[in-house]
Amino acid sequence: MNIAVDNFVYDPFAPEVMSNPLPYYEVLREHFPVYYAEQYDTFFLSRFQDALDFLSMPANVFVTNEGSVFNRPVLLRHNTAATSDPPTAPAMGSHLNYGAPIYELVRQAHGKQLRPGHVKRFEPFVRAMVRSKLDELIERKRFDLVHEFAGVISASTICHLFHIPVENATDVLDNINAMTRTDTDGFVEARAHQFALLEYVRPLVEARRAEGPDGSWPLVDGMLELRVEGRELTDMEIAINLMCVMVGGTETLPKVAAHGLLELRRHPDQLAEVRADLSNNCAVAAEEMNRFCGPAQWFGRTAREKTVVAGQVVEPGQRVVYLTQSANRDPREFDRPDQFRWNRSIPRTLAFGFGQHFCVGIHLARLEERIILQEFLSRIDDYDIDVDEATRNPATFQWGYSHMPVIVRSTF
Ligand code: HEM
Repeated sequence: MNIAVDNFVYDPFAPEVMSNPLPYYEVLREHFPVYYAEQYDTFFLSRFQDALDFLSMPANVFVTNEGSVFNRPVLLRHNTAATSDPPTAPAMGSHLNYGAPIYELVRQAHGKQLRPGHVKRFEPFVRAMVRSKLDELIERKRFDLVHEFAGVISASTICHLFHIPVENATDVLDNINAMTRTDTDGFVEARAHQFALLEYVRPLVEARRAEGPDGSWPLVDGMLELRVEGRELTDMEIAINLMCVMVGGTETLPKVAAHGLLELRRHPDQLAEVRADLSNNCAVAAEEMNRFCGPAQWFGRTAREKTVVAGQVVEPGQRVVYLTQSANRDPREFDRPDQFRWNRSIPRTLAFGFGQHFCVGIHLARLEERIILQEFLSRIDDYDIDVDEATRNPATFQWGYSHMPVIVRSTF
């Protein structure tokens, strides 16, 4: 599809953009690298280096108190001055909406369990889970890679991290998928699903508080020991602050893993090269999957101070959005970026963001991707994807496959 440059309009909420934003990114990168959308009073950055420079700015020049994934009604409201962080009393909301230092305090309090040393301990669980899922699904010869396979794996891993029985993984996954649905206004309000997830976590926090945190469950113990402005957080505040790990850890990975297996199937030469040394090559292929298949299209921030971004003056209250998937396909950064190449050189990546809000789950994501690929390809010799039945729904934010049937032709 070719998009005309004359009278060009980019609107992430327009149905035609939601159904395939990639051609719009090409025009943005070439002709309007700092695109101003007047109706939203927002600048959109489409080039890799501009996005990286923007994300490298010191904390609190830009903030996320309006969120980092904006709904359209929020953007239609123009700010005439810097926006305020939410109050911390009587109840604190998610740390994702606060600037430094509160944001960092809360992230450090629970993020320890997502650091490499702790994440390594997840390997036996994830491998066993992937193997048992494959045992069950291969029998059927045809199954959904996104929901039934990778989705259940990521949700089970999150259940394991949260001490939720893994039998609940499908319910957790379904609630998260319902919560992250978007339409032409952005996220669809899904309070019942959000509440269902909070009610998995809150009682576990309550029980942990009663038994006494001993540091062996860093995710929750760190939050129980945390003091914000001199006070401890309530069970519900802790549950609310951990929601981002639950959602972030479940929603993206299945779409990346399934789409990556599709790209490998489309390129039999590459698939053969990956298969030649699964234990080393799967981690490499996963990086290209993250670049090429990442479903999140953009993240934004609101200016707190007057500043300059990519040569453009930005006033307090104005927003800047970086287009993740445009940056990932910028030919200034990547050679022939529209081609999937499993072992391309990726010296710098924006697939997990950068700077203050850099993905806290990157190590867990890489571990799961590596194991999913390795186990799938070591069990399944030949597979097809029923592309006609695969669904990639239009979306304002997470534009990724939600259903992808795989047909197992032969196994080892
Ligand atoms: C392939 C899988 C994944 C991809 C491609 C991905 C990508 C990203 C990106 C691009 C951001 C930056 C958002 C921004 O700039 O505002 C982000 C943030 C985040 N990710 Fe991931 N992620 C993945 C998996 C995970 C996992 C497994 C977890 C949790 C265990 C997780 C938890 C989070 C959280 C909590 C944030 C928000 C950080 C913040 O705003 O401070 N993600 N992720």
